[in-house]
Amino acid sequence: TAEPLVLGIETSCDETGVGIVRGHTLLADALASSVDEHARFGGVVPEVASRAHLEAIVPTMRRALDEAGVTLADIDAIAVTAGPGLAGALLVGVAAAKGYALAAEKPIYGVNHLAAHVAVDTLEHGPLPERSIALLVSGGHSSLLEVDDLANGVTPLGATIDDAAGEAFDKVARLLGMPFPGGPPIDRAARDGDRDAIAFPRGLTAPKDLERHRYDFSFSGLKTAVARWVEARERAGEPVPVADVAAAFQEAVCDVLTAKAIDACRERGIETLVIGGGVAANSRLRALAEERCAKYGIVVRAPRPKLCTDNGAMVAALGAHLVASGVAPSRLDLPADSAMPL
Ligand code: KG4
Ligand code: ZN
Repeated sequence: TAEPLVLGIETSCDETGVGIVRGHTLLADALASSVDEHARFGGVVPEVASRAHLEAIVPTMRRALDEAGVTLADIDAIAVTAGPGLAGALLVGVAAAKGYALAAEKPIYGVNHLAAHVAVDTLEHGPLPERSIALLVSGGHSSLLEVDDLANGVTPLGATIDDAAGEAFDKVARLLGMPFPGGPPIDRAARDGDRDAIAFPRGLTAPKDLERHRYDFSFSGLKTAVARWVEARERAGEPVPVADVAAAFQEAVCDVLTAKAIDACRERGIETLVIGGGVAANSRLRALAEERCAKYGIVVRAPRPKLCTDNGAMVAALGAHLVASGVAPSRLDLPADSAMPL
């Protein structure tokens, strides 16, 4: 029998995404972003995001179907991000998915955004092994998860106790005068900098912190340390070496993320590390993970950068896995849950 043809809708933050997959094959990945509308506020404004989704959802849906060369009637199931995310933004995607599901008489699957960030890697590298560790780093989340089967959910091992990794990139970029979102400009600036130029703190790595927070992260102290360092320079009337600050900050984030992810793999005897979420697009994080994992025989899987940031294909990928696993669809009255647990 043919693999399921699944359409996925993503509207949890500022990207309106509609993706279409056949099993592990990506057929379409249409995206409309409201990021430029949020840039002048230095962060995503929920009301602006909701309105943008409302305007973009139907045209993005059409583009995805065109790109895949299929009609809604061909689709086997519709998957939609039901949470976590911005309540109003999620509601637009969930309502649209229900409308299409009802009109075309298709089953609907409400899926978890974080699990979808992990599932998207199957479009690039095929099915996940029986067990893997996932490092999920985005603007809203930073978590270490043990993944046995995405259809059965995942086990959280740890998470950030304050800022998410992407949030730290965004805040540090702002204080260096770079545009929002800050990850890409920091990544670029860091290429010309010296990552050892400044010793920024590594959150929750001291022995006493490891007792209680072995797999947790903290980035707010790092952000403050960068701010203090930059302020001291400015007060002294000295120029701020932006590339060095970017490189040293980025190194502090990537060092902790990769070290804890590898600890989790080794402690649990797991040989695959999947990296997902917007920060997984970071070139240094990918390189450092590769370099360190190679020493322990751990295979690193990270989807291409475009699939790391929010998109509809990731939702379709998880939906296809649920359909193939024989999981029952959601009810048509499924709620959007802004704080949906894993
Ligand atoms: O997964 P995502 O698109 O949305 C959320 O679910 O949050 O992640 C967005 C985050 C932003 O904070 C952005 O600055 C960060 O991912 N990001 C990066 C890079 N590209 C995007 N951070 C570091 N390096 C990058 N190259
Ligand atoms: Zn995300």
